[in-house]
Amino acid sequence: MAMAVVDSMVFLFLLPVALFFNLAASQSTGYTNHTVGGSAGWFFNIKTQKASADYSAWAAKQTFNLGDTLVFNTNTNQTVIQTYNATTYKNCTADYASDDDTFQYQGGSNEFGKAMTITVSLTLEGQQYYFSDADDGSQCLNGMAFEIKVGHGIGLPPSLNQPPPPPYVEPPSTVEDAESPPITVVTSSPNGCVRSSAGLFFAVSVLVMLALHLV
Ligand SMILES: *[C@@H]1O[C@H](CO)[C@@H](O)[C@H](O)[C@H]1NC(C)=O
Ligand SMILES: *[C@@H]1O[C@H](CO)[C@@H](O)[C@H](O)[C@H]1NC(C)=O
Ligand SMILES: *[C@@H]1O[C@H](CO)[C@@H](O)[C@H](O)[C@H]1NC(C)=O
Ligand SMILES: *[C@@H]1O[C@H](CO)[C@@H](O)[C@H](O)[C@H]1NC(C)=O
Repeated sequence: MAMAVVDSMVFLFLLPVALFFNLAASQSTGYTNHTVGGSAGWFFNIKTQKASADYSAWAAKQTFNLGDTLVFNTNTNQTVIQTYNATTYKNCTADYASDDDTFQYQGGSNEFGKAMTITVSLTLEGQQYYFSDADDGSQCLNGMAFEIKVGHGIGLPPSLNQPPPPPYVEPPSTVEDAESPPITVVTSSPNGCVRSSAGLFFAVSVLVMLALHLV
């Protein structure tokens, strides 16, 4: 009887969750490649000190989800810094950033003006930031920066997913531990408050044990 009530409550709780995921899955059929800046790419004109696109406006029009990819069509005059740290983003430099929350994507060339395409997989939900820290931060301060919010979507594809954690192993416990009720501690305690809460604990324990015997 008690189990039946619990089961239907679990069901009532899970129903909207299941419906939500069903809806989310049917709305997105796959993962999206977002080409940063569209056809303008990820460029900065050093003479006019202007970014080739309004990246914040571009980002505001996109929906980003786990497993999507950002594609930066650019050259080695710009950098691609990804950070989860708003302070680093506002600072426009990765010089003071921690390795845990900030990553530089390399094109693999030290030569100026070499064409490169940098792809970044979105593997974490939530707010994240991109900027170019080239020219001592002046690129970033002049528009080479944008922030995005990554939603869950259909979740990560298996290729980007982490391996599952090892199975849970119960910590060792002795039979005495399981059998000695906390009430024995309380009878010697002069504190009435502790006694009454222990009494309540005992009553609840009895109810739980009764319920377990019923099923
Ligand atoms: C995204 O780009 C990759 C690599 O270029 C390509 O294999 C994939 O099909 C693209 N996905 C979509 C949804 O366009
Ligand atoms: C963000 O980065 C700054 C350095 O740029 C660091 O001082 C701060 O602790 C970081 N914040 C978080 C939440 O890690
Ligand atoms: C970035 O942080 C450093 C160290 O706190 C500071 O000297 C520099 O002025 C900051 N730059 C910007 C653009 O906020
Ligand atoms: C790249 O930067 C170098 C050095 O500032 C400059 O001479 C060159 O014109 C730039 N090339 C492009 C394609 O922006």
